[in-house]
Amino acid sequence: MIITIDGPSASGKSSVAQKLAQQLNYIHINSGFLYRAAAVLYLRQVQENYPDVISENHIDSAQNNKCSTFVVSDLTLKAKLYRTIAQLKYIYNPATNLAQVYYLNEDLTPTLKTTQVSQMASMLSANPEIREIINQLQRDLVAANPENSYIADGRDCGSVVFPKANLKIFLTANLQVRAERFRQDLIRKQLSQLSIEKSLAELQERDQRDQTRAVAPLIVPAGAFLIDSSALTLAQVVKKILVLIAKL
Ligand code: DC
Repeated sequence: MIITIDGPSASGKSSVAQKLAQQLNYIHINSGFLYRAAAVLYLRQVQENYPDVISENHIDSAQNNKCSTFVVSDLTLKAKLYRTIAQLKYIYNPATNLAQVYYLNEDLTPTLKTTQVSQMASMLSANPEIREIINQLQRDLVAANPENSYIADGRDCGSVVFPKANLKIFLTANLQVRAERFRQDLIRKQLSQLSIEKSLAELQERDQRDQTRAVAPLIVPAGAFLIDSSALTLAQVVKKILVLIAKL
């Protein structure tokens, strides 16, 4: 059984998928973690090769834009990046209900949620080769244990990665609500104190990139159930999806 939940940034899909995985004993595939891990590896490689662009982990949006161009222009870097991304290991632990991403023996999970990594993940996710590698990592996870059930969340899980999923959900919420959730999430994780204006701007930028990229743009997959969570709690969204699963 495969269930997919796609939707824009901060629509709550990862939290919903995590809760459902816990309740149903499914494996949670958080595909955003893989894009974020790819961004961590890429930023490191740029830092090694272009120390004048990224110094000491200090980077702003303009530098991030500049960084993202190397993946197109520096063919050696690009080849190395693709090789390293293919070696990422995604592990979901049912006992803790937590997902981790490893590169070789290093757990990258604690580094995945910074603003810098979020922006770079969004930029890299427009790259078709990177998408293909990450799609394959997800399909390999399922193929390795086909007897398990999976719940995958992201932007293209129902449209591209698992088009034959048993149930597809498109989870959304209005921009104001998502911006406030996004801001609160960063504050809760003590990652940054973003104003609501900055939070709105950040999400608008990501929405624009996610929806307009040429490869696998964010769309409502064919056959998906649309859930607007603007006025719903996490528990209410989970309940709605459980009702849909019960009808399968
Ligand atoms: O869901 P998230 O915010 O953790 O995802 C991080 C970035 O990765 C996001 O900007 C879009 C991209 N992404 C994607 O393009 N396709 C996916 N299936 C998952 C994430």
